[in-house]
Amino acid sequence: MAPSYEVAGSDLIAEDIEAYLFAHQHKSLLRFLTCGSVDDGKSTLIGRLLYDSKMIFEDQLAALEADSKRLGTQGGEIDFALLVDGLAAEREQGITIDVAYRFFSTDKRKFIVADTPGHEQYTRNMVTGASTADAAVILIDARKGVLTQTRRHSYLVSLLGIGHVVLAINKMDLVDWSQARFDEIVADYGVFAEKIGIKAFTAIPMSALQGDNITEPSAKSPWFAGPPLMRWLEDASVEDDLREKPFRMPVQWVNRPNLDFRGFSGLISTGVIRPGDKVKALPSGRESSVARIVTFSGDLPEAVAGQSVTLTLADEIDVSRGDVLAAAGDPPAVADQFEATIVWFDEEAMLPGRPYLLKLGTRTVAAQVAEPKYKVNVNTLEQLAARRLELNDIGVCNLSLDAPIAFDAYAENHDLGGFILIDRISNRTVGAGLLHFALRRSQNIHWQAMDVDKTARAKAKGQKARVVWLTGLSGAGKSTIANLLEKRLAAQGRHTYLLDGDNVRHGLNKDLGFTEADRVENIRRVAEVAKLMADAGLIVLVSFISPFRAERQMARDLLGADEFVEVFVDTPIADAERRDVKGLYAKARAGQLKNFTGVDSPYEPPESPEIRVDTTMNTAQEAAEQIFEWLEGGSFDPVI
Ligand code: ADX
Repeated sequence: MAPSYEVAGSDLIAEDIEAYLFAHQHKSLLRFLTCGSVDDGKSTLIGRLLYDSKMIFEDQLAALEADSKRLGTQGGEIDFALLVDGLAAEREQGITIDVAYRFFSTDKRKFIVADTPGHEQYTRNMVTGASTADAAVILIDARKGVLTQTRRHSYLVSLLGIGHVVLAINKMDLVDWSQARFDEIVADYGVFAEKIGIKAFTAIPMSALQGDNITEPSAKSPWFAGPPLMRWLEDASVEDDLREKPFRMPVQWVNRPNLDFRGFSGLISTGVIRPGDKVKALPSGRESSVARIVTFSGDLPEAVAGQSVTLTLADEIDVSRGDVLAAAGDPPAVADQFEATIVWFDEEAMLPGRPYLLKLGTRTVAAQVAEPKYKVNVNTLEQLAARRLELNDIGVCNLSLDAPIAFDAYAENHDLGGFILIDRISNRTVGAGLLHFALRRSQNIHWQAMDVDKTARAKAKGQKARVVWLTGLSGAGKSTIANLLEKRLAAQGRHTYLLDGDNVRHGLNKDLGFTEADRVENIRRVAEVAKLMADAGLIVLVSFISPFRAERQMARDLLGADEFVEVFVDTPIADAERRDVKGLYAKARAGQLKNFTGVDSPYEPPESPEIRVDTTMNTAQEAAEQIFEWLEGGSFDPVI
């Protein structure tokens, strides 16, 4: 089958390995992804491409033949899907479950194919696979036509800016190679493609199983004048306009083997760079020029997009990992507030206000996402109102970062405009996003420099500003302890303020209830207020259930290193429930009160609080004393 698609001079491997490697190295690379629904025949197609390009080694082939016979999926014939669906569990379920990258090559080109599963809940894999792809092969089962999955995948392909699209209409043998059916699907898809901004696509009728229109034009479709898939893949023009764009290199690491050498290493995202070129480091904005382009095999006179290099600069300017080196005359913008499209792929919904980590290029910063402006129904393309983003949702939101970053709009530069969001507690990648533009407000609101600062204000009060954050179940005794502690501090002449959940919820936060999203917002506001009060030089006592680690961490991050004192008021739920001062546990157990902490809403205990008070062993008075001691006489000087 397909003799013209042997690996470049596979005979050469035996005869002249050097020549083979040289030829191989200088072939261009096309990265593409395949997407389709369960059973579209995607694995079979990839297996077929690997087989026809002779990338399967003999031993794999023998195993494949044996497996095909044993499983009998194709009546004793070779089942190419088995090649790709490597895992036993997947084979049994009949679906592929993770992105797998596979490599193959023909004599014209090298390929990396990202095989992304079609199952509804695996948007994550699709986005992962699509983020580096030059082309997409969208599979359709000729019997089924355009499905919801086809639309979802196509929408993502368009969103992620993949320029080359093939509509692989597979299983044509099962519709008797009907041209009418093919035309019908193409017309159907064309209407949707236009709506989502896919400007052009190539439709190919095929049978991956029987090898029709894969490497050679098939005699079964004399009415089809287009290229077979492999030829299309070989001829698709790889974007080389990346070189035409202004120079950008996110700094991966600062290479400083000794005092005489300081280089900045990274992968050039766009543009060309030569010694002498002026560059700007961002976000600092400092300028210098390139002294040398250093690589393992010597200095280069020029480097281009796609190359990993180390640059040395003419001046000693401060550049760190996460910064961007860019063409001085055409640098990216710097901002800390944006509008972006976000694709959410975690089981736990995106909560507005919760701090996530945002990773863009080599930079990681804390970020909060605001309530979505809308989410998109990918089937109808309608914009729907939404308060949060759930698994597989795609929405447009504003987001604000804790620090400014250098960025380009995603449409301009995928590396400097595409980001992922990471959950700070679990470290899971929970979403991906594409930056549209910086919000003007972020350019117009500046920090007002104050002459009288926090230290000065605290000093005038003869104390060090602090936030003592008491967390624990309802009825644990937080408010009682906080109250006693405040009295104790006041008696010592300290200037204090007590923020208590029940009280703040009567005023500032009276619009909030007890859903997860509302609790996140409750704590976000209280943390900001506590920060302002600490800024005023006060010792702030905060008494809130504050059940989630992520928001307590956010509060900690808002304050200086030793200003935040987390106090875990540790009371077993049985004790809190026995006391039940407000009668709320009884109501919650009776189902009259929803989302009650410890009953049907979670409490995440602190992992390493500064202070833990055990209310089973100590009275509230003793607990207050314990905290007072820690603050006043403890591990460091409380008064500056
Ligand atoms: S938090 O979870 O958002 O931090 P917060 O400390 O402000 O809670 O408020 C807790 C107080 O609200 C409790 O002490 C209790 O009196 C009252 N409350 C009313 N409904 C609930 C509920 N569903 N869960 C927890 N507390 C509730």
